[in-house]
Amino acid sequence: MTESLQQIVDRARAEFAAVSEGPALEDAKARYLGKGGALTELLKGLTALPPEEKKSRGAEINRAKETVEEALRARRAELAEAALAARLAAEAIDVTLPGRGRGTGGIHPVIRTWQRVEEIFGSIGFDVADGPEIEADWFNFTALNNPPNHPARSMQDTFYVDMKGTDGLPLLLRTHTSPMQVRYAREHARALVEEGKPIKVIAPGRTYRVDSDATHSPMFHQVEGLWIDEAISFADLKGVYTDFLRRFFETDALTVRFRPSYFPFTEPSAEIDMMFDSGPLKGRWLEISGSGQVHPAVVRNFGLDPERYIGFAFGSGLERLTMLRYGIGDLRLFFEGDLRFLRQFA
Ligand code: PHE
Repeated sequence: MTESLQQIVDRARAEFAAVSEGPALEDAKARYLGKGGALTELLKGLTALPPEEKKSRGAEINRAKETVEEALRARRAELAEAALAARLAAEAIDVTLPGRGRGTGGIHPVIRTWQRVEEIFGSIGFDVADGPEIEADWFNFTALNNPPNHPARSMQDTFYVDMKGTDGLPLLLRTHTSPMQVRYAREHARALVEEGKPIKVIAPGRTYRVDSDATHSPMFHQVEGLWIDEAISFADLKGVYTDFLRRFFETDALTVRFRPSYFPFTEPSAEIDMMFDSGPLKGRWLEISGSGQVHPAVVRNFGLDPERYIGFAFGSGLERLTMLRYGIGDLRLFFEGDLRFLRQFA
């Protein structure tokens, strides 16, 4: 029994509906409209018919063919739409999600202090110098009049590097910025002697000691100050340092005192203490810096005649200055990298 045209059309529709992908649909199409397709075969068979039948039968077949073509186009469109919808779903982006952005960096509070210190001393004629953190024993200790058995030299306080300097002694991580006094002064001694150009410098930088608790960190920052000329006195130290503190803390309402102390490289030596006259720290003496008149033996190591040249030096902790300026209680906050802390200064 031969299939009716309507049956062929229905079967084509059913097959088109059953496929879910483009290539399968094109295969189905070939079965009806292709070279050997069902409808194509029927059209070929027309030649065998008498002319009057040929015409009407041909028209019927062509209508069936158009219907199938129409069903094919419709199914193609459906599949294309489904494919697009699937792709859109798979590649969906939620445009309401916050972007990843690129955080703006900030300047670390200790570095802010470093910059302020450079600015303030720069404005009164101090040069800014910079030197090695891995230092030779001679610069860190000997040239600074440290006796050979001084406790600061011991392994408990000093990080030694597994490498020897030209003097055969182990190199070390500088325990203070004071070796920069020696390095800078030796380089500028001639200009002082020959041109009368004073040695007037600060040297901020990293320093290291074997020490770690709420108020000590194995790495910390100091700023060294040195002013050497023919008549630089303790009065100059007092004036310069008091002015510095007032500008640094942006207030004149603070008192400064010089408390006798001892350092091998200064004589006399003093701790500089300060007290705020108002605010939360009001009335408490706060230790802020070591200082003193540079020891004649050290001036000699500068390459200068201590009978002629004299001056002062100081060494202050940058963390300490930062903690007092912002009211920070725990030194470790500076080194933990916690953005909640750091953002407050950005
Ligand atoms: N270098 C000393 C310290 O680290 C500080 C200091 C510097 C004292 C200069 C006097 C003069 O404690």
